[in-house]
Amino acid sequence: MRIGILGSGQVGGTVAKKLAQLGHDVMIGSPHAKDKTAEFPGIKLGTAEEAASHGEWLVNAMHGEAAVEVLPSLNTAGKILIDIGNFEGSIEGPLERSLGETLQQALPQVRLVKTLNHVSAHLMVDPVHLGKTLTIFIASNDDEAKTAVTELLKAIGWQDIFDLGDLSACRAMEYVAASWVAIEKAVGGPNFSLVLVR
Ligand SMILES: NC(=O)c1ccc[n+]([C@@H]2O[C@H](COP(=O)([O-])OP(=O)(O)OC[C@H]3O[C@@H](n4cnc5c(N)ncnc54)[C@H](OP(=O)(O)O)[C@@H]3O)[C@@H](O)[C@H]2O)c1
Repeated sequence: MRIGILGSGQVGGTVAKKLAQLGHDVMIGSPHAKDKTAEFPGIKLGTAEEAASHGEWLVNAMHGEAAVEVLPSLNTAGKILIDIGNFEGSIEGPLERSLGETLQQALPQVRLVKTLNHVSAHLMVDPVHLGKTLTIFIASNDDEAKTAVTELLKAIGWQDIFDLGDLSACRAMEYVAASWVAIEKAVGGPNFSLVLVR
């Protein structure tokens, strides 16, 4: 499948490499993506516009503040958009409105699926790294899109994919991301994640 990744930072780069490894035709788009050929051998690099047009599916790997600015001008209509982002402002400050719901409202024709926003980038694509079955949350207003993204998560290696329902769950998921930052400081690094015991 053709996948456009918006953002070439820690998350965008990590997810892009994994999806390319799984055989997808990936293009990363961001202001500096074209300067990163050495970092991403064999992966197409372009602007956000080019990556959005390339992708049948899209991944938001930008901070929320950039995503709400950039995404409305891109070729997104009818596409599945996997939103991994968080508002930077909500990590240290209050979460007034979730990013997932804000994007879905701004882009009603997008099939937004929220997931992976609350795990460390290296674990997103290597969920067995810690030797435990980690839990990943997923939410969407579009059940078919959610099922399709669940299959992609399984292909990446996720086993415990916990469906939180519609996008009203984004708020909780983005609070988990804020907690992640506090826990990282206490643990002293990103090598931890969530297991939902039930
Ligand atoms: N890092 C993690 O472990 C982690 C885990 C879970 C969720 N998240 C969330 O994922 C998001 C990205 O995090 P990150 O750590 O990958 O951040 P990052 O390394 O700072 O990367 C952010 C990316 O956004 C791109 N960007 C900025 N303005 C843009 C624009 N106008 N158009 C297209 N791209 C633009 C930047 O592009 P250039 O490099 O070209 O300037 C950069 O590649 C955040 O919301 C974060 O909360 C991160």
